[in-house]
Order: sequence, then C-alpha cells, then structure tokens
Amino acid sequence: MMSQGLVTMSYVAASILFILSLSGLSHQDTARRGNYYGMAGMAMAIIATLLSDSVNAYIILIMALAIGGFIGTKAALKVEMTQMPELVALMHSLVGMAAVLVGYANFLDDTSVLQGVEKTIHEVEIYIGIFIGAITFSGSVIAFGKLCGRIDGKPLLLPARHWLNLGLLIATIWLGSIFLSGAAEGGGTFALIIMTLIAFAFGVHMVMAIGGADMPVVVSMLNSYSGWAAAATGFMLSNDLLIVTGALVGSSGAILSYIMCKAMNRHFLSVIAGGFGSAGGEAATVEGDVSPIDIEETTQLLIDAKDIMIIPGYGMAVAQAQHTVNEITKLLHAQGKTVRFGIHPVAGRMPGHMNVLLAEAKVPYDIVFEMDEINEDFPKVDVSIVIGANDIVNPSALDDPNSPIAGMPVLECWKSAATIVLKRSMATGYAGVGNPLFVHENTRMLFGDANDSMQAVLKALNK
Ligand code: TAP
Repeated sequence: MMSQGLVTMSYVAASILFILSLSGLSHQDTARRGNYYGMAGMAMAIIATLLSDSVNAYIILIMALAIGGFIGTKAALKVEMTQMPELVALMHSLVGMAAVLVGYANFLDDTSVLQGVEKTIHEVEIYIGIFIGAITFSGSVIAFGKLCGRIDGKPLLLPARHWLNLGLLIATIWLGSIFLSGAAEGGGTFALIIMTLIAFAFGVHMVMAIGGADMPVVVSMLNSYSGWAAAATGFMLSNDLLIVTGALVGSSGAILSYIMCKAMNRHFLSVIAGGFGSAGGEAATVEGDVSPIDIEETTQLLIDAKDIMIIPGYGMAVAQAQHTVNEITKLLHAQGKTVRFGIHPVAGRMPGHMNVLLAEAKVPYDIVFEMDEINEDFPKVDVSIVIGANDIVNPSALDDPNSPIAGMPVLECWKSAATIVLKRSMATGYAGVGNPLFVHENTRMLFGDANDSMQAVLKALNK
C-alpha cells in the first residue's frame, strides 16, 4: 500500500509525463519519445491508483484490467492504419460511457457523507458529468458510423434544427433544477434519466447534422469532449490526476478543433451547429473530357521534369503506397530533381495522417511541407502527382459557392505545368463532391491502385 503522499507525488509525476508526451507529439522527430512518455505516465497512474487506499476490490479490478487489456491489444494489433480514426471515435465513446456510468454509480452511492453545499456541488458535478459523457458517447458512435461508411456522410438537416437544439438545451437546464431540488430530498432519479436520454439524442443530432467534409472538426471536437468527460469523472471521484489529464485532453482537443476550423476556413460554431456550406443551392456538376495517361508517359513526364510536387491523400493510405513513393522520391532526387510533398491539414482521415505515413516510409521531414508553405509555388512546379487525393485538390472549393466544401483552402496543383492524378475511378472523395480538376486541361488521370501504378513507374524509372 502506498501512503497518500506517495500517491499524490506519483500523480504529479504522471501529469508531468503527460505534458511532456503532448509536447513530444507536436513534431514527427519527437513523436516516438512523446508516446513513451505517455505510456510511462499512464503506467505510473494505474500503479499508483491500484496501490492507493481507495482501491480494495482487487479481484474485480484485475479481471477488468485483463479483459480491457486483452480487447485493446487485439484491436490495436488488428486495426489497419486506415481504420485508425474509427478506432479513435470508438475510444472516445468509451470515455463518454465511463463518465455516464461513474455518474450514476456516484448518484446511487448511499455511503456518501457529503452534506449541504458540498453535497449540492457533488450533484452538479454528477449532472454535468453525465450530460457531457452522454453527448460524447452517442456523438462518437455516430462519428464511428460515418467514418467507416455505415452511416451516410451527408448532413441530416431537420427543419428548425437550431430551435430543436435550443429546446433540448433549455430542457436540460430545467431538468437540472428539478434534479437538484429532487436530489436534496433523496430523489431526482427521473430527471437524471430524462436528461441522459436528451443528451444521447443531442449527441446523435449534433453529429448527424455535420457534413462529410467537416468530419475532421467533429473528430477533434469529440476528442475534446472526451477530455472534459474524463475531467468531470475526476471531479466526481475526487481524483486530481483524472481532472488534470481530462483538462489536458479537453483543451488540446479544443485547440486542435480550432486549428482544423482555421485550416478549413470554417467557423467553429457553424460546424457544430451543423450543415455548414450546405444551405445554398445545388453544387455545379463537372463536365468535360477526361484525359487518361499510361505508365510510359507518366515516367517520361517525370524524367523531363525538374520540380516535382507530390500530394498524398486518403487513397495513398488505402493503397499503402508510401514506401514505393519514397523509393521513387529517392531515385528522382538522386537525378538532381527537386521533389517535395505538399500536405493538406485534413488529408486522409485523421489529423497528421499523411505525416504519419510518410514518416513510416522514412521520407525526410525537410521535403514535407504544409499547404500554406508551398501553395504559392505551384506555378513554378513542372509536375504535380496527386496520389489518392480528391477533396483536398478540388478547385470548386474556391470557385463554387454552393459546393459543400466551399471556402476550404485546397492545394492548387492545377496551376502547375502538368498534374497527374492517381486513383482507381472517377468516384468522388469523402465529401461526395465532383472534382473539376479531373477534367482540367493540364490534368492527366492515371487510373488504377496507387501502389500498383507507383510500382510500375518505379520499375520504368529503373530501366
Ligand atoms: P478523399 O477526398 O476521401 O479522396 C480519396 C481518393 O482516394 C478517392 O477519391 C479514391 O478514388 C482514391 N482512392 C481510394 N483508394 C485508392 C487506391 N487504392 N488507389 C488509388 N486511389 C485510391 O481524400 P483526401 O483528398 O485525402 O481528403 C480528405 C477528406 O476526408 C476531406 O473531405 C476531409 O474533410 C475528410 N476527413 C478528414 C479527416 C482528417 S482529420 N484528416 C477526418 C475525417 C474526414 P477511387 O475510389 O476512384 O480510387
């Protein structure tokens, strides 16, 4: 058994490790170290909690740890890189559900000795904790469905949806006052249950109303909510470490949501209120002739080019083409060509998705650029290669006000002398919008799986 002082010290050390972990994760060079800090912090937190005075049901706890550890390890080993965002959404839903269950357990706990103001504060914590937890749970389950394609990505726009949201919020506040006065006399259960159901419905409605293109913001927003749900759980359990960790996750998720909104030129409130950019008329349809290209011509274009820009998207992750792309990059580089990567902030399906793939393939960081750093360079680029990207290179975001992605900055590759787009068909991307880039006069389409095409190009370049 650890003394309370030692437990507190371990919690402080774990908090410091979590902060170091976050700062490590802010850059590819230090990301691995950041992960190690996080793991060490979590191990320390679990051990200190297990050895603290407040834990005595060891059998149940060990069984829960074994079952949770087993499921977590299995899921992590099995999950494909492309399914990572879905897994993260599911994890968020578990944090939300945990907050709801801890809230009910606290409410039903008749051993509590709190009195007067302390009791009221505890009940407010329970009410808010369950509210945030329930929204996080149902919102994350819907986000999971949307990310894995089981739920349609189109926003569900109910008539008067903003009034509906406002009504639900007012009902929650009103039920809160009923709950508090009921709880003071040993009741309040009914109000708590109704509020929980409203919060579940609120979470479903909130995420259903958000269109496919705005999903990155939802993912980071739910990340933030899961942090606040954990912090609320920390208040209910009087666990300082959980409060600190929850606040760290909550605020870093909120900052990430803000960065995402800025990158997509969205206002945070319009995104969470739902249906951003879809209230206007019909988006323009794409008309024009597609000009396909074969491996031989693609190789020749690369041989003739001096300045090459590679734009990876979700399709590169699906095809797992990053290693072949790195081989081609090394080859072209050795021939004295400038090869750079242009990364859109929402490329792929999770923040930093492309950076992770490129780091895994050992592409040097100094040739990987953020969209803002290289967007002005496209007129000087000889060949842009778009590998399984679609929405992030869609010019209609800039010139069609009715497009669901209107206003989102995109990589302006059509300004380069030639653009080669690698994809399997003329299918739309995640946002479900037609892409005029594919019929642009400078664009050639290289149809097929991105890895197969890249391998054929590599073979031809090596000849
Ligand atoms: P998308 O617009 O989804 O386009 C990906 C393209 O890859 C598809 O058009 C697909 O066309 C092609 N593709 C798929 N498998 C392929 C394969 N094996 N070989 C070659 N091509 C393949 O991706 P993006 O341009 O990266 O844009 C990201 C989108 O996801 C944005 O709308 C963004 O808002 C959204 N989103 C992002 C995030 C984050 S945080 N990054 C989270 C959720 C949603 P074919 O089927 O014709 O091959």
